[in-house]
Amino acid sequence: MKFFIDTADIAEIEELAETGLVDGVTTNPSLVAKTGRKFTEVVADICKVVDGPVSAEVTATDAPTMIKEGRKLAEIAENVTVKVPLTPDGLKACRALRGDGTMVNVTLCFSSAQALLAAKAGASFISPFVGRLDDIAFDGLQLIEDIVDIYNNYDTIETEVLVASARSPLHVVQSAQMGAHVVTLPPKVLHQMYNHPLTDKGLAAFLEDWAKTGQTILDD
Ligand code: G3P
Repeated sequence: MKFFIDTADIAEIEELAETGLVDGVTTNPSLVAKTGRKFTEVVADICKVVDGPVSAEVTATDAPTMIKEGRKLAEIAENVTVKVPLTPDGLKACRALRGDGTMVNVTLCFSSAQALLAAKAGASFISPFVGRLDDIAFDGLQLIEDIVDIYNNYDTIETEVLVASARSPLHVVQSAQMGAHVVTLPPKVLHQMYNHPLTDKGLAAFLEDWAKTGQTILDD
């Protein structure tokens, strides 16, 4: 499973990139707005830190302008993945940008029907929003399972399921169990995945017993 980081904060990205666990980054207009910085400069900075796909979302809603915006974003760096919303115009733009050889992440997916359309439009990634479905008492993970099952029926579908709006380590684990290709993680969720009280307790006990030996490895 590939781990993308869901943020536009370059400091967070730099810190997490040092873990060696980061395969890409996703941003969206809300995350970019939070930085208070110029969009194209944020994207360029992220692409310098992370070699993998970096999603940058168009903000137009008509296909011709989406395509123009997408082509401008794609010029920033070769690992830019243009994000388009799952609308008729978004999928027209997806097909055109894929024709250019540009990676496209189709976002704001909330149904299997939408995911089928995105695959037919040649999307590189489909982003079903698990957390936002859970937020309104729909089963977000069930959508992930349904999309993975549908895509697996067809060898011709190369679209990768990119689990978005992840709210917890359980969303990550269960998406992995279902065979999702990618999850985009808020930094908080990645940090949470490390934690287990028995790990902390066990390490403390190891170090306490080691201290009693009076030894140090490097001075041995
Ligand atoms: O960036 C796409 C998606 O991960 C955002 O999810 O629901 O946390 O805003 P959300």
